[in-house]
Amino acid sequence: TAAAEVPTQRSFVLIKPDAVRRGLVGAVLSRFESKGLTVVALQLRQVSEELADAHYAEHLDRPFYPPLRRFITSGPSVALVLEGDEAIEVVRSLNGATDGRKAAPGTIRGDLSLSNRENLVHGSDSPESAAREIALWFPEIG
Ligand code: TYD
Ligand code: MG
Repeated sequence: TAAAEVPTQRSFVLIKPDAVRRGLVGAVLSRFESKGLTVVALQLRQVSEELADAHYAEHLDRPFYPPLRRFITSGPSVALVLEGDEAIEVVRSLNGATDGRKAAPGTIRGDLSLSNRENLVHGSDSPESAAREIALWFPEIG
C-alpha cells in the first residue's frame, strides 16, 4: 500500500500583545522556526475591535469575550502565516493547552504563560479555520 501522504498546510498564528510587551516575540517565533515551519507572511499589527470580533466570531457571545477583546486590542500583535507538514496540528501542539497554568511544560504556553487569557499565541484549529483566518488577516495571500 502507498505511504500515507503528509499534507503541507498553512496555519494562521497571532503572537499576542502580552508577548510583544514581554519581549517574547523572538522566543515564540524561534520555537516555530526551530521546529521547521516556514514563515510565509508576517506583519506587526494593532488589532482593531472590528478585526478582533471577526477573528473571534465563534466566541462573541461567551462571557470571557469582552475582556479578551480588551486584551487583544491592547497593543500591537505579530500576525503570521506558517507553512509546513501538518502545520495546523503542529502549531497547536507547540502552543499547548489554552490555559497557561495547565499547559504542558515544553509548550510555549506551558513554559511562558500563567494565564488563561494572556496566553501569548493563537493558532488556527482546523483547515477551515486556517483558510478563514488567512483570508481575514492576509487577504493578499489568502
Ligand atoms: P479558545 O479558542 O477556546 O482557545 P485557543 O486559543 O487555545 O484555541 O479561546 C480563544 C482565546 O480566548 C484563548 O486563547 C484565550 C481566551 N479565553 C479566555 O480568556 N477565557 C477562557 O475561559 C477561554 C476558554 C479562552
Ligand atoms: Mg480557538
